[in-house]
Amino acid sequence: MSELHVMTHPLIRHKITLLRMENTGTSEFRKLVEEISMLMGYEALTDLKTKDIEIRTPIEDTIQPVIDGKKMAIVPILRAGLGMVGGLLALVPNAKIGHIGMYRDEVTHKPHAYYCKLPPFIEQRQIIVVDPMLATGGSLCDAVSEIKAQGGRYIKCMCIIAAPEGVENFTSNHPDVPLYVGCVDRCLNSNAYICPGLGDAGDRIFGTK
Ligand code: PRP
Ligand code: URA
Repeated sequence: MSELHVMTHPLIRHKITLLRMENTGTSEFRKLVEEISMLMGYEALTDLKTKDIEIRTPIEDTIQPVIDGKKMAIVPILRAGLGMVGGLLALVPNAKIGHIGMYRDEVTHKPHAYYCKLPPFIEQRQIIVVDPMLATGGSLCDAVSEIKAQGGRYIKCMCIIAAPEGVENFTSNHPDVPLYVGCVDRCLNSNAYICPGLGDAGDRIFGTK
């Protein structure tokens, strides 16, 4: 089973509650998704490697750490994952961005891939795949399979709200990939929407409903 990290920080939990509220409008929703992504990113990147360099402060010379890890790639699953990119870029401004297009069939709830473009040297990069919702887990499982097929090796995934069904599906199909989730909700409903969830993340981010 892959590492499952469920966020416990009160700021993350508070912001997820605001995100769920049906009266939270588009601009507030986008802002919250970005803030939560930044806070979750902070937790997901605690194992970044550092190296010591020599610098000079106004007082004296000193040896101090700077980030010295693999180059990073942030890969949002379109559309809703796009809302999480800004929060991670605030932490790692020079990360490259890949895109994976997936939509769920409304009847079967199975994912359909329609686009994939990853940054070069993907096999050397620390990859963070982002999507706010992990429902059945089909979209994330297929996205990670495609990244692996293109050579990606160092992969982590971040989702804001997960259903237990999606966590089980993902962790059994990709036991080597750490999964960071803001919270795990109760269950899926008959339309494979997360309960209590927040509704359709893509529609709420882009104002399409
Ligand atoms: C949503 C969400 C995930 C997927 C989760 O996207 O952003 O990608 O559903 O469901 P799953 O775990 O059951 O696969 P959707 O297909 O609605 O596309 P959108 O982001 O373009 O709205
Ligand atoms: N996609 C969403 O946007 N929300 C859900 O609850 C499930 C899938």
